[in-house]
Amino acid sequence: MIKLLFKSGKNFRLPESKDMKREEKMKIFAVQLISALFLTVTLVLIIPLSSAVIKPDAQDLDAKVEKFLNSHDWGWGDMNVPAVDGQTLHDIILKNKYTRALEIGTSTGHSTIWIAWALSKTGGKLITLEINEQRHREALENFEAAGLSAYIDARLGDAHKIVPALEGPFDFVFSDADKDWYKNYLIAMLPKLEVGGCYTTHNVSMGRRGRGGSWNAVYMEYLLSLQNMDTTVDNRGNGLAISYKKSE
Ligand SMILES: C[S@@+](CC[C@H](N)C(=O)[O-])C[C@H]1O[C@@H](n2cnc3c(N)ncnc32)[C@H](O)[C@@H]1O
Repeated sequence: MIKLLFKSGKNFRLPESKDMKREEKMKIFAVQLISALFLTVTLVLIIPLSSAVIKPDAQDLDAKVEKFLNSHDWGWGDMNVPAVDGQTLHDIILKNKYTRALEIGTSTGHSTIWIAWALSKTGGKLITLEINEQRHREALENFEAAGLSAYIDARLGDAHKIVPALEGPFDFVFSDADKDWYKNYLIAMLPKLEVGGCYTTHNVSMGRRGRGGSWNAVYMEYLLSLQNMDTTVDNRGNGLAISYKKSE
């Protein structure tokens, strides 16, 4: 049969088809080689290029925020948080990769800057609320000077009305406005806080009656009674309750 094939001129195609197979193999090899070369060039050129483009931006922002915070170290006098509490808020957000934050009580923006700085690293954004126009304006100037305006939606108005109307979900809250309204803010925000999210409250104490009077006892008793909130108080600064939501 094979002999017949070789003898008949019409069917004498076997050596040619072998060549074609070899050619095809060569073509596939060439395509693979080009792809490998292309991938290598991409890895060698693009990755260092992109990190050269991205890293300096983040480094520039860090340097700008640090410079701003250092230059204001002596000058925060509008009921602002001490730096240790600001650093704690920053670290909580970074550690948990939170992205949707709310602050109640901006004042001139010290805590806001720490929160927004962390959000600039997680790709998040912050809504912050202030009722006093002068402090709100000063805060806006501070956000600009620190290079963080893009991460902050600063709203002027009464948090009593704004907070219940806010659309969730949020994964981080810092409550630092009028203390006798703390419980109302918490009740309004808890359903909008994601499981795994964190609710922080400033100027509280676990055992004592608190700096401001009886509101601390009322608030802390309520907060600690919530079975789905895991609460600790950090006393290194001005008393910061840190409450993680474990379930709905
Ligand atoms: C303790 S200060 C906030 C300090 C700020 N978190 C910081 O560390 O820079 C409290 C702020 O809450 C504001 N505030 C009080 N009641 C408010 C309300 N009902 N709505 C919005 N802001 C309010 C005050 O005007 C004040 O500036």
